[in-house]
Amino acid sequence: MIRTFTKEGDLVLDPFCGVGGTLLGCQLCRRTGVGVELNKEWVDIYYNLCQLESLKPLELIHGDSREILNEFINEKRKNFDFILTDIPYWKMDEVEKSKGTYKKVGEQSKGIYSEKSKLSRFSGDSKQIEGTKENWELLISEVFNKCFKLLKPGGYCAVFIGNMYHNGQYFLLNADIARILSQIGFVLKGEIIWYDVNKKLHLYGINYSWIPSIVHQFIMIFRKERTNSLTKQEKEKIQTINIKRIKDKTSNEE
Ligand SMILES: C[S@@+](CC[C@H](N)C(=O)[O-])C[C@H]1O[C@@H](n2cnc3c(N)ncnc32)[C@H](O)[C@@H]1O
Repeated sequence: MIRTFTKEGDLVLDPFCGVGGTLLGCQLCRRTGVGVELNKEWVDIYYNLCQLESLKPLELIHGDSREILNEFINEKRKNFDFILTDIPYWKMDEVEKSKGTYKKVGEQSKGIYSEKSKLSRFSGDSKQIEGTKENWELLISEVFNKCFKLLKPGGYCAVFIGNMYHNGQYFLLNADIARILSQIGFVLKGEIIWYDVNKKLHLYGINYSWIPSIVHQFIMIFRKERTNSLTKQEKEKIQTINIKRIKDKTSNEE
């Protein structure tokens, strides 16, 4: 992703950086990167890893993106070439995978199938997003509003997101992301489906209801269009200046 959307020396931002996968990617392909992560434990892992691997660490800031990105905006660090991030999924780090009696047709029951999601290890300090989907949407909207300001016009933004099944209902979180980011001004350019070959594809028929087996994630690709960075007034102003320039040029030639 980094090689596709940036050139050598470009600057990448990851506002939900975890243990620094994006930063390591930047280091591997000679880009610069800045990450923000709420959970101190993950920040420490990144710096320890850099030390173990004798890598010069990039900047991974411990803090809340909603505040840290504001500081970037105030410092006028509006020069990111690419935003690459794996966002916290709503409740994904808290919910249990599934509940019910697990058995294949014609087989004896293997007992209750219920396991905490592996993503629970990412919950850490991020308790703020617990609870309603509205709170999750608010966090996403707040962070990407700031990201939009910090991204260079013409720059791309790639967001990893998986859909989820919760309390008997399937949630298209990728559609939520598309809506929220479009409202901010990003233009949706496409989606990449990332199929996890390590996950087994099952058809769960628990208590006579069909439950999906989710083995894929999406990488949603957005762009901050060059023209979108201008307001209607700014566009009119440029138009007026251009017309004046042409008029001046013509009168000079006369
Ligand atoms: C899906 S994980 C990212 C994993 C990451 N790609 C990696 O390589 O480890 C999402 C991360 O967002 C962090 N997070 C949640 N809310 C945050 C916030 N307001 N500001 C910064 N980080 C936040 C979580 O602590 C979690 O580590």
